[in-house]
Amino acid sequence: MSDYDLVIAGGTVVTAADMFRGDIGINGDRIAAVGLDLKGTRRIEADGLLVMPGGVDTHCHIEQLQANGGADEENWVSGSTSALAGGTTSVITFSAQFKGRGILEPLAEYRRRASKAMVDYSFHQIIADASDEVIFKEIPEVVASGVRSLKVFLTYENSHVDDRDFLRVLAAARRHGMLVTVHCENYEAINWRTAALLAAGHVEPKYHAWSRPSMIEREATHRAIALAELVDQPIQVFHVSCPEVAAEIAQAQARGLKVWGETCPQYFVLSASDMDRPGFEGAKYMCSPSPRDAAASAGLWDMIRMGTLDVVSSDHSGWGYMSPVGKRVHGTNAPFSDIPNGVPGLASRLPILFSEGVGKGHIDPCQFVRLTAANPARLFGLYPRKGSIAPGADADLVLWDAKKQVTITNDVLQHVIDYTPYEGMTVTGWPVATIRRGQVAMRDGKVLAEPGSGQFLARGPYDLIKPTGRLPFGFDASAYQV
Ligand code: URP
Ligand code: ZN
Ligand code: ZN
Repeated sequence: MSDYDLVIAGGTVVTAADMFRGDIGINGDRIAAVGLDLKGTRRIEADGLLVMPGGVDTHCHIEQLQANGGADEENWVSGSTSALAGGTTSVITFSAQFKGRGILEPLAEYRRRASKAMVDYSFHQIIADASDEVIFKEIPEVVASGVRSLKVFLTYENSHVDDRDFLRVLAAARRHGMLVTVHCENYEAINWRTAALLAAGHVEPKYHAWSRPSMIEREATHRAIALAELVDQPIQVFHVSCPEVAAEIAQAQARGLKVWGETCPQYFVLSASDMDRPGFEGAKYMCSPSPRDAAASAGLWDMIRMGTLDVVSSDHSGWGYMSPVGKRVHGTNAPFSDIPNGVPGLASRLPILFSEGVGKGHIDPCQFVRLTAANPARLFGLYPRKGSIAPGADADLVLWDAKKQVTITNDVLQHVIDYTPYEGMTVTGWPVATIRRGQVAMRDGKVLAEPGSGQFLARGPYDLIKPTGRLPFGFDASAYQV
């Protein structure tokens, strides 16, 4: 007699809190039981494997619309394939706004495109133009549609907002119960440095790192935190590249502010010197903030252990190396400032973090689960449906061979991007199966899910991102209506 549709049997179950040998019983798309000697109609032997929650990647760019009407090369089918190949079952991607335009139209188009997804998904709505229409009329509609997070850029020509508009976005988020994620780099400082570098004839990819040293990120992080404190609005600082930036977050947390920090695998294993390669090759490693150096990478592990940085996302970006619409969109002689920023990383996120983190003793498997699944799910209102192994949770699991060594080549990552910055890197620990809502979505590298089988994750209000109620200098909530 079978009690469950499917049993994952005999693995080492790893949750955010514990590691134990046990079985997981699944009925339909949910976990029904965690126990011993469970009986299922179907059974997957997990002896010798870790069984962890499916990865939750809360920062990746998939089929993101561009101002010229095009979209990122990584489409929802290829992006989902890559995510599942790497053990990730849920993603939060971006709906972009362009200056002078609204946010409802792109969000509708984005949802249309995402209907092909094979992983579960939600969106962060980017605010590039904080017009009255957007702030007072459209953001409430975005919330009503189940989207609970905004992204603001403090740099980039076409998307940055000034401090006043940033405050307006923070205040709108506070009124409607949203989390604001922030790209922290100082727009003016980067432009000033870039102009000087270009005037001196310093145009090669390596000068990308010169144009935006860490104090440019640190200043913007400090300012973002101070402005968020002024509004009493929780924020997450995206893609922290080095410990001195994380230290700004640590100070804010020590003062009781709701400020969280995310980092990405590229900041552990790439450095600014990767951009110093002959010809155009350095463009493959170019992302913002810039990767720093080995000391910065080492310091990030301390910030992870202290809990200052509690989410590791991919920041997967869809720019091919050879593609005419990718890194070389402005030609191979383009100055660094005209080369699109971002590196692919959907499938490599979990293996690199496991190999570098667990394999080298920086974190334990439970911390790995917290960083890659439980914490991102919590912060973005998806927990415990996602990121947990407990009765009632979605049956999203990754079966992980902690001993398997793989030398990363672009083809194993199964994204549409024609390169990986991690080509030739050997990692220890690899996903051998991905279960998404009770279905085997990847087995031994073969992705089995069907386009369109992913579900939109509508997010409602949740306590973690409620303001602290500490309003400076006697202001009350009415101060945040503008
Ligand atoms: O270089 C990066 N990070 N590209 C992706 C866009 C962003 O800033 O997150
Ligand atoms: Zn960013
Ligand atoms: Zn990004």
